[in-house]
Amino acid sequence: PKLIVETRNGEERELEGQSGFSVMEVIRDAGIDEILALCGGCCSCATCHIHVDPAFADKLPPISEDENDLLDSASERDATSRLSCQLPFGPELDGMKVRIAAED
Ligand code: FES
Repeated sequence: PKLIVETRNGEERELEGQSGFSVMEVIRDAGIDEILALCGGCCSCATCHIHVDPAFADKLPPISEDENDLLDSASERDATSRLSCQLPFGPELDGMKVRIAAED
């Protein structure tokens, strides 16, 4: 499945993601280093913050309390904010567009 990523300088990249990985891993494994993912996907750093295309919002797992608390610490949080390590990637997300959030 395809994942479309907008980087911080506005460049759009189309990635071929593998099911079974998180959106964070798909982005990082494509060599995009703007996602620091300092905690390695444990939902404790918020450096994997992305904005997700609202059209896909209902295909994503609900935000957990931990994710919600962490997102509150991000300056650019809005209704489309998610932590990409908490989003399993798969065929149902084919064509989803995400934008990497500003660094805090
Ligand atoms: Fe740390 Fe997602 S990688 S919260």
